[in-house]
Amino acid sequence: MSGNEVYSPSTEFSSQAHVGSMEAYQELYRRAEADPEGFWAQQAESEVHWFEKWSHVYEWHPPFVKWFVGAKTNAAYNCLDRHLETRGDKPAIIFEGEPGDQKTLTYRELHAAVGQFSNVLKSRGFQAGDRAIVYMPMIPEAIVAMLACARLGIIHSVVFGGFSAEALKARILDLDASLVLTADGGWRRGKEVKLKGAVDEAVKDCPGIKDVLVYRRTGGECPMNEGRDHWWHDLLPGVSPDCPAEELDSEHPLFVLYTSGTTGKPKGILHTTGGYLTYVASTMKWVFDLKENDIYWCTADIGWVTGHSYIVYGPLACGATCLVYEGAPDFPAWDRWWDIVERHKATILYTSPTAIRALIKQGDEYPNKHDLSSLRLLGSVGEPINPAAWDWYYRVIGKSRSPIVDTWWQTETGGILIAPMPGAVPLKPGSGTLPMPGVLTDVVDFYGEKVAPGAEGFLIIRRPWPSMIRTIWGDPERFEQQYFSRMPGIYFTGDAARRDEDGYFWVLGRVDDVMNVSGHRLSTMEVESALVRHPAVAEAAVVGKPHEITGQAVCCFVSLKQGNWDHGVLGKELRQWVAHEIGAFARPEEIRFAESLPKTRSGKIMRRLLREIVTSNTVTGDVTTLEDLGVVTRLSAQHDED
Ligand code: WTA
Repeated sequence: MSGNEVYSPSTEFSSQAHVGSMEAYQELYRRAEADPEGFWAQQAESEVHWFEKWSHVYEWHPPFVKWFVGAKTNAAYNCLDRHLETRGDKPAIIFEGEPGDQKTLTYRELHAAVGQFSNVLKSRGFQAGDRAIVYMPMIPEAIVAMLACARLGIIHSVVFGGFSAEALKARILDLDASLVLTADGGWRRGKEVKLKGAVDEAVKDCPGIKDVLVYRRTGGECPMNEGRDHWWHDLLPGVSPDCPAEELDSEHPLFVLYTSGTTGKPKGILHTTGGYLTYVASTMKWVFDLKENDIYWCTADIGWVTGHSYIVYGPLACGATCLVYEGAPDFPAWDRWWDIVERHKATILYTSPTAIRALIKQGDEYPNKHDLSSLRLLGSVGEPINPAAWDWYYRVIGKSRSPIVDTWWQTETGGILIAPMPGAVPLKPGSGTLPMPGVLTDVVDFYGEKVAPGAEGFLIIRRPWPSMIRTIWGDPERFEQQYFSRMPGIYFTGDAARRDEDGYFWVLGRVDDVMNVSGHRLSTMEVESALVRHPAVAEAAVVGKPHEITGQAVCCFVSLKQGNWDHGVLGKELRQWVAHEIGAFARPEEIRFAESLPKTRSGKIMRRLLREIVTSNTVTGDVTTLEDLGVVTRLSAQHDED
């Protein structure tokens, strides 16, 4: 493929789609732009159940926004109770564990499980406004935990199971959480991944934690701390499944999700209830063209925002059937995903370019062994999708029949902002195409001026949308500074993009010090702070290095304190150290030792230069120390001074 193809929706797809033509898409966009209040009020009415209606649709005092002001609603009620009458016996979750165990929960069963667990939390004294950490494997009980919190108004913060005890502790303390919901462990590549041990290590320094409730998943050894820890299964017997959903304010915090920013400290992104639900439910239908009979599968982990919005809240608010898979794509073999698609007749698959590239590498024989004809729509998220990966996904998985929705969004945006409506918008591989209705995206220069078509610039959003970040937990100044200080009243995404002659957006990547490793956000400063906590390290600079599978890989430049260090041994130790401090997914691909790091005259580490070193083949070669870069450093110092 040349990279310039345009794929128009087939008549077959368009004729059944929620939005079936470019004119229909444009009409939605025009209406939302001209009358945001009327447009979103209508979406809120049609997609969400409200105990009480709003007094006004939104209030915007930049950078703070409120949606559906004064209204009352509940996320768990929207995901469960309102479906009971029409979808009570419809599967909400079809779960498959890595060892092969399966469990289906209908909407009625999920409702009962959530109600019962909510009553457990209530009886233990937890209530609206409290904060709970969810640190669990990808099992239905993790979703039960989230929804039980939402039912009572307890603010949940899901921490991805791959994060270390240190990272977990930092999140518990920042949130001042009082409850941890966890499991003994989960299954990954046939091995038990322990979780409870990390909780014990984290919680010993967190005096605010009252309860640790533990679901037994693996049955492995799991020491319990008398008084503080309780087995989930010991708390349920005799507890009623009836627990009324709290009628919460539309702006009641639903969850805080930590993500990497430009500093060493992760930021807690706060999302609230009414606007978030309205937006994720709307985009489920627009982007995934969700229908009553779809079997929808998003392969993300619920520890990331994709899992929150497009495994839990979006699909369940729409009454969809969701596949949930616990483990690795290569267990017991590289056709596990295709086997799942075939057996459960998945119709929609939503995954990441990193996963696609890893699957391509194994060869076509794995997907070709299976009947994938149930699939009708494919999705991509987390990073730009390269043409080769797009092409393979389209041909080998979608049989040149299923549209691919390339969805651009962020933890902060709550839901998908740029993506094709697949029955309406022609696809261009590598482009997220056009914005959602009500999302006023643009590409501007350093001074906030719109750039010409085809030119690169900063991706911004001119107007608030319902699922926009409300603040950074405990740090409203950082919230304003980070997203709204460059152009007052305008949301700065941190991404570079260009817009072509057809108005299509092409997102190019981050313009700040955030790396994207396997679609996971990691800040260079976060890894640097971890490295300098090691006793041997004097200074560290970290940059993202292009990587064939994961998009970027972590590359560290380290200078050491006085001593006789064995670089081979220390390199291994430091990689392990970072995994321990942050999580295994942050483990550096490469550690390079240097006598000193290149700095500007004002003492700032020249990351730009280091990025060039790891990116350009001419300098990379076999350079393992930076000594020979003294010249480059001196030459570039002048330039980097500004
Ligand atoms: C990048 C994930 C290109 C982007 C939902 C963004 C993408 C960051 C795409 C957010 C895409 C996400 N095309 N780049 N389709 N989707 N990104 O917060 O740089 O984990 O700013 O949210 O991922 O990552 P986050």
